[in-house]
Amino acid sequence: EKDPLVVLVTGAAGQVGYALVPMIAGGSMLGPDQPIILHMLDIEPAAEILKGVKMELLDGAFPLLKGVIATTNVIEACKGVDIAIMLGGFPRRKGDSKDLIFRNVGIYKAQASALEQHADSNCKVLVVANPANTNALILKEFAPSIPDENITSLTRLDHNRALNQISENLNVHVGDVKNVIIWGNHSSYVYPDANHATVDIGAGLKPVRELIADDQWLNTEFITNVQQRGQAIIKSRRLSSAFSTASAACDHMRDWILGTPKGTWVSMGVYSDGSYGIQPGLIYSFPVTCEKGEWLIVQGLKIDEFAREKMDAVAKELMEEKAVAYSCLH
Ligand code: NAI
Repeated sequence: EKDPLVVLVTGAAGQVGYALVPMIAGGSMLGPDQPIILHMLDIEPAAEILKGVKMELLDGAFPLLKGVIATTNVIEACKGVDIAIMLGGFPRRKGDSKDLIFRNVGIYKAQASALEQHADSNCKVLVVANPANTNALILKEFAPSIPDENITSLTRLDHNRALNQISENLNVHVGDVKNVIIWGNHSSYVYPDANHATVDIGAGLKPVRELIADDQWLNTEFITNVQQRGQAIIKSRRLSSAFSTASAACDHMRDWILGTPKGTWVSMGVYSDGSYGIQPGLIYSFPVTCEKGEWLIVQGLKIDEFAREKMDAVAKELMEEKAVAYSCLH
């Protein structure tokens, strides 16, 4: 049997946490043969709720789950962590994006230091909490001994939403659609790009651009449907998307650690190396392939003028978020 991996979930008493921890314990994130020790962190006001989540996890009698810690102590939570899923943070409210950044900078600075000191030095981190890309950047800055490439943010939910939009439009199974791209930030500027996407039509792969002759749909509704999907779910469910987020977090970690299928790429927020003219020093979502726990940005894709403009607009938004975040540090 493999040695257990220690998985930290911060904000585990929240909505996404409630959906995510049973998926992790059931093997959806790291595979059916990977034992797990779960560390769940939340803050004092949520301590009782966290206790209840722990009781349910134990009652789940998950064969892979070798231990559970539920704590409000960040040091205890970060000890020996191999994989950290960061859901915890100050929630988004209407209008005050500066305030959101300000509050989360403090939280991510503190949690970065705890990970830096107590987690495994090769710990892999996925930031989900919004503003996810900028929180990840702060985490990277304050955990300098964790390699840059180990710190990522979640845009897989947007990626999966884009796959679904194409599948619905063409009336094909979502599993037959691949290689959409999410560029940039998980925000209302997010740019889903179907220029390189394909559909498996049985007799081979066909470009989505050929199957959907209507450029107008791909250049307008497809994009806004993905951008506004979160709001549509809130309107229906009166709560934000939770299990689709949790499922996307599992997809992100599983593909990163176990590898992407041949010929398939996925979208991940990663530290920019300047690919596609995106400034180094931002956590930006790119198309990546993964092998043996390492991601690589897919190179050489042709970028048309329409895409270029959208990719730059989202980079600009991230530069602005970064400037606000850094101004909070002084
Ligand atoms: P939630 O508000 O239900 O849960 C957040 C949890 O974090 C709460 O239990 C809260 O007590 C806890 N928390 C607050 N400060 C903390 C701290 N300093 N340390 C540890 N825990 C702390 O929110 P929900 O719906 O579970 O969403 C979680 C996060 O994920 C939110 O920031 C949300 O905006 C983000 N999100 C990101 C998505 C993406 O695609 N990147 C999609 C959906 C949600």
